[in-house]
Amino acid sequence: MATAKLKIGRNELEIPIIKGTENEKALDISKLRASSGGIVTLDTGYKNTGATTSAITFLNGEEGILRYRGYPIEQLAEKSNFLEVAYLLINGELPTKKEFKDFEHEITTHTLVHEDIKKFLDAYPERTHPMGQLCAMICSLSAFYPESLNPYRSDEEINNTVIRLIAKMPTLVSWIHKRAKGHPAMYPDNSLGYCENFLKMFFGLPTEEYEVDPVIANAIDKLLILHADHEQNCSTSTVRIVGSSHATLYAAISAGISALWGPRHGGANQSVIEMLQNIQNDGGNLQKWLDKAKDKSDPFRLMGFGHRVYKNFDPRAKIIKKASDEVLKKLKIDDPLLNIAKRMEEAALKDEYFVKRKLYPNVDFYSGIIYKAIGFPTEMFTVLFALGRLPGWIAQWKEMMKDQQPIGRPRQIYIGENERKYTAISRRKKK
Ligand code: SDX
Repeated sequence: MATAKLKIGRNELEIPIIKGTENEKALDISKLRASSGGIVTLDTGYKNTGATTSAITFLNGEEGILRYRGYPIEQLAEKSNFLEVAYLLINGELPTKKEFKDFEHEITTHTLVHEDIKKFLDAYPERTHPMGQLCAMICSLSAFYPESLNPYRSDEEINNTVIRLIAKMPTLVSWIHKRAKGHPAMYPDNSLGYCENFLKMFFGLPTEEYEVDPVIANAIDKLLILHADHEQNCSTSTVRIVGSSHATLYAAISAGISALWGPRHGGANQSVIEMLQNIQNDGGNLQKWLDKAKDKSDPFRLMGFGHRVYKNFDPRAKIIKKASDEVLKKLKIDDPLLNIAKRMEEAALKDEYFVKRKLYPNVDFYSGIIYKAIGFPTEMFTVLFALGRLPGWIAQWKEMMKDQQPIGRPRQIYIGENERKYTAISRRKKK
């Protein structure tokens, strides 16, 4: 085992260096505090800190590499389907024909949601954001499956919860949408595949036949694959830390949905479209918006640009950019926002500010173009991200539980007041 030497005062510590299967290296500081008389590391935002080892997803930010369980994202996006990728992420291997058939059958036969869930939905004000509803609904599923609250869950109970989450989320998403439109809830159709069933529940009406367009079904399937996992991103780290307290998986996934909602994370796909629409309404003046994004006194950031890990192209953005061209052409839609997005990308990649900081389009930059072309409301875009990320969150939670990891509890460096005496209110003076 290679080691690093750390000299602190007269104390010289040997810190083990661990190496992953892709030659990534880390200083294992798990014994640092005990062996240094209480010294910890500080790394706000964890830009230099690994929270865990993991065998699920590999990213190389410099080379723009993304692999799920060793399979390149480009091959999975082209050759696989979302349910198969969900199986791969959760179980570690691509399924055999029988394994896939059994998995798909389990999902298909668990798509119904308890009718009482509608009472929750009916209580929301009309303009409630769907991410807030989804987060609450997923956590509320635990009310219908109290056995999932048992911290000593059997493998069978865990599998039941995994299947119920993957099977029921599309139904919940469509019911949230239908209620917002004042339309009757649509029920799952077990004769359809996962994405086809979702599209029919989301866009179909009980008053007429709904033909699923294979172009749209294929685009959604590909987008869900591309969003399925991304190692220790903000929402996945949230799922892991909530899961580490042994709360039910429903609560951990609900927490992941909350974290994903933020505009710095999954909420960016909604913000990108809103940004492109603002640019369009502002006469398409790209330079003005680029300058705004570079102005430190302005909180505006170029949404869909930049990434904590990718300092090169986000491979998912490349695939989605190509798919947005194909889908819009097949649907015969000429959306000026796609053109603005392409011109914005071109201008930013020639701008020294973005080049120097290695800011490239990320997964959220083009995805909204396709969601919009298909007809999803903008506020539903991050919900679609959550639908895709669900198997990744589940896989990461299962890995954390299987490894019997301790409860996540980071340390801190206190910089507040030193000890002081309580003062009676009569003697306090305004500071
Ligand atoms: C996702 O982690 C994941 O894997 C996430 C994700 C996943 O699949 O789970 O990939 C999904 O969340 C993609 C990211 C979506 N968010 C956005 O598109 C929002 C816009 N992007 C930024 O907010 C930002 O780039 C982050 C949040 C994505 C990354 O932030 P970091 O890693 O903390 O980087 P930083 O803020 O320290 O930026 C470094 C510099 C700063 O400038 P300086 O202080 O060096 O002068 O780059 C600047 C930042 O101001 N910068 C930007 C910018 N992003 C970074 N400036 C303008 N526009 C931007 N978009």
